[in-house]
Amino acid sequence: MNGARILLGVTGGIAAYKAAALTSTLVQRGALVDVVMTAEAERFVAPLTFAALTGRPVFGSLWDAPERIPHVRLVRENAVVLVAPATANALAKLAHGIADDLLTAAVLAARIPVILAPAMNDAMYANPATQANLATLRARGYGIVDPEAGFLAERERGIGRLASEERLLEALARTLERSRALAGKRVVVTAGPTRERFDPVRFVSNASTGAMGIAIAREAAARGAAVTLLLGPTLLEPPAGVAVWRFESARELLDLALEHAVGADVTVATAAVADWRPATVAAHKRKKGADVLEEPMLRNPDVLAELGARKGATFLVGFAAETDDHRANARVKLRAKHLDAIAVNDVAGERGFGVGRNALTLLWGDDGERDLGEGEKPELAARLWDALEARFACS
Ligand code: CTP
Repeated sequence: MNGARILLGVTGGIAAYKAAALTSTLVQRGALVDVVMTAEAERFVAPLTFAALTGRPVFGSLWDAPERIPHVRLVRENAVVLVAPATANALAKLAHGIADDLLTAAVLAARIPVILAPAMNDAMYANPATQANLATLRARGYGIVDPEAGFLAERERGIGRLASEERLLEALARTLERSRALAGKRVVVTAGPTRERFDPVRFVSNASTGAMGIAIAREAAARGAAVTLLLGPTLLEPPAGVAVWRFESARELLDLALEHAVGADVTVATAAVADWRPATVAAHKRKKGADVLEEPMLRNPDVLAELGARKGATFLVGFAAETDDHRANARVKLRAKHLDAIAVNDVAGERGFGVGRNALTLLWGDDGERDLGEGEKPELAARLWDALEARFACS
């Protein structure tokens, strides 16, 4: 924690007093803590308490700071945001992008990791509205330190107590360490489907949305890498802080990949590339005409195999979309495309394309294998980078 720059957000719950104790511990361990309090938090603990503990000004309203945009400066100068306690109201605002005070504006402007530690009455915590907000926030890559069961302010027992100081410190330490894990690395990620034009209004494509690749790019950026995302046609938003190049066809992706991925430290190819394209692209919309359409299809370049042939020192990771005999099929691709690792993605049934959840297994070498389990794509992206970091550290 020594020298760590932490932005601590305090919202208006009884547990706000615990944020003062946490601040004291952080300062004793050498962290530099900026505290932002909501107006409601100031009803529970005086800003003076935090000012005295940190020896720094405490930020309250968007309007009383001497400069015009304190919310942006605060998230640029700090390495991590921890909101503790995070009330149900704060979670609801953050889940919906409401930025009507300094803290919520700062979190919305944050490109640094954000950790939320909910604390509230057990019924408020269990309410589906709160649970849905937490699921949204988690899926967007926010770290959540779950509340604990115990004695609540209402003199009853239930789930809703702010996580212990030990768990909050652990989450901060882990997040800070993680935010430096890929510092100095150049990472390229390919994501999304391709579109192979058939005529001006039709194309051949697939159900990929690019969600997995976008999550992998976002996670790499959160770990400090300089990330380039090569992104196919999708309505999903690319992550902030990442250089984005758009492609439509496999051949456009190949051009971009050869330009950006050759020489990168790590390339992760999640794009669902069409293996074939219509042999001709009609200049005008094709008319119905014949009952049976016979259209020759040409083989597309294999982008990943091309990268494998030129990979040099790049750690090259492929994805294998499989519906059966997953591992055996993926190992063939691992070898044939000269990859360092391949993540097997089960696209049968309810998982894989177009859904929030996925299941991955990482394979490398002759028999290296790590089951990354099932989960939301941002969660899996974090587990994938944990596993990859361990691999390229020893390769
Ligand atoms: N890939 C690629 N270019 C292609 C096809 C696939 O770069 N023309 C990449 C994908 O981005 C992925 C990996 O190769 O990282 C495996 O893709 P997948 O569709 O599972 O396999 P294919 O190699 O196309 O083999 P098959 O369709 O026969 O299973």
